[in-house]
Amino acid sequence: MPEGKRVQEMFSGIAGKYDLLNHLLSGGMDFYWWWRMARASGAAKGKRLLDVAAGTGDSSIALARRGSEVISTDFTHAMLRLGPMKFRQKKLESHIWASSGADAQALPFRNAAFDGITICYGIRNVENRAKAYAEFLRVLKPGGQLTILEFSTPVIPGFRGLYTWYSLQVLPRIGAMISGDKSAYTYLPESIRGFPDQRNLAREMEAAGFKGVHWTNLTGGIVALHVGTKT
Ligand SMILES: C[S@@+](CC[C@H](N)C(=O)[O-])C[C@H]1O[C@@H](n2cnc3c(N)ncnc32)[C@H](O)[C@@H]1O
Repeated sequence: MPEGKRVQEMFSGIAGKYDLLNHLLSGGMDFYWWWRMARASGAAKGKRLLDVAAGTGDSSIALARRGSEVISTDFTHAMLRLGPMKFRQKKLESHIWASSGADAQALPFRNAAFDGITICYGIRNVENRAKAYAEFLRVLKPGGQLTILEFSTPVIPGFRGLYTWYSLQVLPRIGAMISGDKSAYTYLPESIRGFPDQRNLAREMEAAGFKGVHWTNLTGGIVALHVGTKT
C-alpha cells in the first residue's frame, strides 16, 4: 500500500480519539506548544495562513486566535471534519475555513497565495518532504514564512533517556488502550526516531530553498519549532 494511503488509514482509525490522546500523552503541553507555534508563525490580523496537515484543527485555532485568516487543510477527511464544530464553539468560524483533500505534496492553491504556512506534527508523515517544501515555496508569497512544529531530539542527556523510555514503553500502551489501535502509537515513537534532528531538519529546509532558517527547542527539545522564509 502507498505510504500516503497507509497514513490516511491510520489517522482515519484514530480520529475520534486523537484530541483526547494528544492532551493526555503530552500532559497538556500540546496547548502550550501550539501557542508558541502561533506566536512564531507571524499570525496576526490581515495575514492569510495555510495550516497544512491540520488534522482536527487545534493548530488552526491557535493561529486564528491571533486574528489571522486560516485555511485548515489535511488529506484525511475523518480528521479534518472534526475541526468546524470546534471552530464554532470557539467563535472562530469566521476566521477558519476547512479545506479537505489537500496533500502537502500537491497543494490545490494558486502561487503566492499565503503570508505563512504552518505544519504541526505533519511533516514527519509526509513521504516526499522535498516535494512538500517545493509546494510550500510555490504557494507562499515572497517574504512569507514556513513554520514547522514537530517532535524532535531532546537535548538534555538524562531527560533524553527518560523520554525514550516514556515514548517506547508508556505511550504505545496508553495509545493502544484508548484508541484501540496498537500500531498507530507504536508508529509514533518509531517515526520520531526516524526523523531528522533539529540541525538536520534545518539543513533540509535550507537545501529546499528557505532562507534565514532557525529553530527553537521547546520542553528540552521534545518538540522543536523551525522557521524559514521564502525570499
Ligand atoms: C499528528 S496529526 C497533526 C494534526 C494537527 N496539525 C495538530 O497539531 O494536532 C498529523 C496529520 O497530518 C496529516 N498528513 C499526513 N501526511 C499528510 C500529507 N502528505 N498531506 C496532508 N496531510 C497529511 C494526517 O492526515 C494527520 O491529520
